[in-house]
Amino acid sequence: KSTPKTRRVLGSLIQHIHDFTRENHITVDEWMWGVNFINRIGQMSDEKRNEGILVSDVIGLEALVDTITHASDAKGHTSSAIIGPFYRDNSPVYPNGASIIQKEVGGEKTLVSGKVTDTKGQPLKGAKIEVWHCAPNGLYEQQDPEQPEYNLRGTFYADDEGNYSFVGLRPTAYPIPYDGPAGDLLQLMDRHPMRPGHIHWRVSHPEFHTLITQIYDSECKYAKDDSVFAVKEDIIVNFNPVEDNSPLKAKGIQNTLDYDI
Ligand code: DHB
Ligand code: FE
Repeated sequence: KSTPKTRRVLGSLIQHIHDFTRENHITVDEWMWGVNFINRIGQMSDEKRNEGILVSDVIGLEALVDTITHASDAKGHTSSAIIGPFYRDNSPVYPNGASIIQKEVGGEKTLVSGKVTDTKGQPLKGAKIEVWHCAPNGLYEQQDPEQPEYNLRGTFYADDEGNYSFVGLRPTAYPIPYDGPAGDLLQLMDRHPMRPGHIHWRVSHPEFHTLITQIYDSECKYAKDDSVFAVKEDIIVNFNPVEDNSPLKAKGIQNTLDYDI
């Protein structure tokens, strides 16, 4: 409904669009290109593809609103990051230590473990930890007919000491979908579509703010050159190779990641 805020924000938006249009001498043909562009964003989108998020991400808008939204968060918290276009709720609940790999898709198995605490360091028993990442072919489960539903996604609950663990894959760099308007923008700016290898997290608890974040592999070259500008220094992590004589190696686990939240 119309409120002082809607009137003020829309007035500002229209003012900026008019200023942009005047400054850049936008013609009728160019305006029509823009209209078609916006229409294509809608036409390409469905429950499996969110082209609106992709377009806003390649121009850094989701990273910007994430930064603005979390500018005043409490000290000592894990940094947030963008949710991106591929979150799904109701992923399967697994016991701690279980694998989210329902079907072998290649890649290096990794044991991820850590502790969820509040900002004072008190364990957060019962915190809900949702994780998701893509397969080494660069596709999330819902984009890929070869993967079973909810492959590489899972929900875990922190135990009495706040500890959680799961087995997933060491994430690999991959291109965001670039066969639509978001890809056209990248090409027009002579930019690549790559995102650094990352795992997504959503950590929630009834008494606390929800944390949406990602981790990035320090050894991935795109950690310094993300097409959607979502990397923050303190959520770049080190994966540790498993020693040859470790019992983990016998289980096919090649890396560990210690990650406290
Ligand atoms: C984007 C984010 C992701 O995490 C991803 O896997 C693909 C695209 C994005 O910001 O557009
Ligand atoms: Fe992602």
